[in-house]
Amino acid sequence: MRVFQKTSELASYINKLKREGKSVGFVPTMGYLHEGHLSLVRCAKRENDTVVVSIFVNPTQFGKGEDFDRYPRDLDRDLKLLQKEGVEIVFVPQVGDMYPEGFSTFVEETKLSRKWEGEFRPGHFKGVCTVVLKLFNIVKPDRAYFGEKDFQQLKVIQKMVKDLNLDVEIVGCPIVREEDGLAMSSRNVYLSKEEREQATAIYQSFQLAQKLVKEGLKNPRELEKRIVNFLKKFPLIKEIDYVAIVDEDTLEPVKEIKGKERILVAVRLPSARLIDNWKLEI
Ligand code: PAJ
Repeated sequence: MRVFQKTSELASYINKLKREGKSVGFVPTMGYLHEGHLSLVRCAKRENDTVVVSIFVNPTQFGKGEDFDRYPRDLDRDLKLLQKEGVEIVFVPQVGDMYPEGFSTFVEETKLSRKWEGEFRPGHFKGVCTVVLKLFNIVKPDRAYFGEKDFQQLKVIQKMVKDLNLDVEIVGCPIVREEDGLAMSSRNVYLSKEEREQATAIYQSFQLAQKLVKEGLKNPRELEKRIVNFLKKFPLIKEIDYVAIVDEDTLEPVKEIKGKERILVAVRLPSARLIDNWKLEI
């Protein structure tokens, strides 16, 4: 496994692989890897000759007062996990190399990014799009892998790729959950024991919602209310930022549940803000 810090060294190594006709699969991450990240790596390995994983806690996607400084980091552990998966290339750039003094160009998707996470984390997707486009330009992947865990992010990246004619296939991969249903996330380490227990309420609310839909509930506003009321029973869920039944493509709230919708949820516990989503079946 080769670990690159310098953009120019990685770029010339990738150019060599490309000249040999090798396909490149790319998994961008912020590190502190878990099974969710590793599922993307495995998918990339199956579909490409070479896999590149990047580990970079991207400062431009964190708002003021958010957790950039305390975001969990453990590079040694991450590298061991990637080695075990048989990853060929890891890219670990420095903040100063990605954003040198005087950096002044940003990429912004202006429709899908406005709502939901965009509303509660202004500028977040601008930072995500900017860093992902930079990484694509450095790694030149044939395919790039993103988790449905961050469903809006996946949609925003797909839109950026389409709008800017980027020559990369975006592959979405299913959410990996803990045994009790909590979606895996690097941020779950912030949770206290009690918070961790109550965090499963999100998954339980999805199960309730799915049951109600199977029983014939079609009104999305009613379903949103039922989910909110369920979540409100958990005292450590201090704030519900949003619960929305949306169309998978537009991310707009739907008028009727027909069986191709997503529930998007964001809640705040004392030590962490959690997002999750669920694809409804009829
Ligand atoms: P990060 O939160 O580290 O996530 C990296 C990738 O792993 C994302 O595509 C995310 O959706 C996916 N992922 C995280 N948890 C998952 C889970 N439980 N199941 C399936 N996939 C999961 O998302 C980012 O980093 C950053 O915004 C990034 C795209 C790297 C840009 O900085």
